[in-house]
Amino acid sequence: MPVLTTQVKKDFSVRGEDSETQQHGSNTTTKVQLQSVTKTYANGTHALLNANLEVKKGEFLFITGPSGSGKSTLLKLLYGQELPTQGEVIVDECNVADLRGDRLSLLRRRIGIVFQDYKLITQRTVAENVTFVLQAQGYTRKEIQRRLEPTLKLVGLLSKADCFPDQLSGGEQQRVSIARAIVGTPPLLLADEPTGNLDPDNSWQVIQILQKLNSFGATVIVTTHDEQLVRRCNNPIVQVCNGSLSRK
Ligand SMILES: Nc1ncnc2c1ncn2[C@@H]1O[C@H](COP(=O)(O)OP(=O)(O)OP(=O)(O)O)[C@@H](O)[C@H]1O
Ligand SMILES: [Mg+2]
Repeated sequence: MPVLTTQVKKDFSVRGEDSETQQHGSNTTTKVQLQSVTKTYANGTHALLNANLEVKKGEFLFITGPSGSGKSTLLKLLYGQELPTQGEVIVDECNVADLRGDRLSLLRRRIGIVFQDYKLITQRTVAENVTFVLQAQGYTRKEIQRRLEPTLKLVGLLSKADCFPDQLSGGEQQRVSIARAIVGTPPLLLADEPTGNLDPDNSWQVIQILQKLNSFGATVIVTTHDEQLVRRCNNPIVQVCNGSLSRK
């Protein structure tokens, strides 16, 4: 089990969401909302059809459904990589389709994304992959160093900081992508099949890391095919079926 660091918890609570949850006991503020969302790609494929969803702040939600059912599309809509054909996608009370330029960048800074295919930069070390985004966002070198070590500890990769991605196992690469998503302590974490290529032990480790971040106050949305893993956790589940979403 990765070493838990209080520093990461502190950084999450500085974002204000943790304290809000503690203040109100169970939090009822809406973090994410889909209102009658249809997504049709340019080639005519309907990925989502009149889909509705509400996710509360501080929730940990699984999105399940067969391959091609629209799980990745749903996450892409939340961080504005895709826009809905119809309906509204609301994140932090903002209609994502209305955001452009700096306002969209600001929203994305508040969202950590674990991509289905990791998207690691092969010529950069683990440490560089994790801190790259912070550099682009103008964090000082000191602040980047302060964040790097506790984040790598949390995902159990401190000893691999100077390795390149091709020197890592699949599970370790997946954990680098998680470290990169959480190093900026985003209040919303989207993880697209974060256990897709992992064995049961590594999958469980990844889910425990995500649950830990959730306990620090982050809202977490995880897509997965892994029914066994979902059953092992006691978290709410949304099923994607024929383009619509239903809570199980
Ligand atoms: N850029 C695109 N252009 C056209 N069709 C697309 C595009 N991206 C996804 N699709 C289609 O939209 C549907 C939903 O795709 P999506 O990637 O959201 O599914 P998924 O549930 O994430 O699948 P998987 O479990 O295999 O990752 C699929 O039929 C897919 O072929
Ligand atoms: Mg997908």
